[in-house]
Amino acid sequence: MTDEKKIRLVIGKRGSGKSVLTKHLIRNESRLVIYDIMSEYTEGVIFDADSVIFDGHAREDVSEFWRHVYRKSFRIIYRPLRPKDEIDWLARAVFALGDLTFVVEEIDAVCTPFDMSEWMQAIIQRGRHKNIELIGITPAPFGIHRDLTRQAKDIFVFQTKEPRDVQYLRRLLGEEIEAKLVALEQYEFVHWSDRVDGLQIGKVENGKEIVYRTPTSPGRGEL
Ligand SMILES: Nc1ncnc2c1ncn2[C@@H]1O[C@H](COP(=O)(O)OP(=O)(O)O)[C@@H](O)[C@H]1O
Ligand SMILES: [Mg+2]
Repeated sequence: MTDEKKIRLVIGKRGSGKSVLTKHLIRNESRLVIYDIMSEYTEGVIFDADSVIFDGHAREDVSEFWRHVYRKSFRIIYRPLRPKDEIDWLARAVFALGDLTFVVEEIDAVCTPFDMSEWMQAIIQRGRHKNIELIGITPAPFGIHRDLTRQAKDIFVFQTKEPRDVQYLRRLLGEEIEAKLVALEQYEFVHWSDRVDGLQIGKVENGKEIVYRTPTSPGRGEL
């Protein structure tokens, strides 16, 4: 585990392995909040906006739960009913609390190039200073706010075929990304890190460790 908190992006088409990698990345996090739009996470306390009758009820439940645990460990899984509308209050709470990891699935739904919640903006710009790690997951990198890609220190790209996404990744990561993407086998990803030269191909093996194809790894299993 590294102590450095940063922004990480996980990109790739549906079923390519994004959530499996994300679950691996967060396996040891003791203070965690997940914005679980597609109901993919189960390891934690689940707050499902869909399962309550009165609007706002799930938020109150989260706030109440948080009030008891905020100094300690917690794994909060929040499943919004209206992702665009609910991100701002949760991001605000995350920013206020700090010292945690915030996972946002389908981040293209809440951080488009033209429209981003004020508190997501705060997390992206100043989250580091509050010890917040942000992991954003999206099938469509072309559709996310540029500040996110600009601030990211780790980018994992699974199979991506949409031409405008590939073209965008090419501008962002250099033209070698294209050949690397073509070479990807099932569940493999291309990893760009600001600490390592070049792009590496890796995979989560048996849900347990990341193994890179190339010999120059940034520390096997240490991510
Ligand atoms: N590294 C892997 N090794 C083996 N199976 C995997 C791996 N990554 C993904 N899978 C399989 O593919 C399915 C879809 O992966 P998932 O991470 O949910 O995709 P995504 O989040 O990109 O839609 C998983 O449920 C799992 O069965
Ligand atoms: Mg997923």
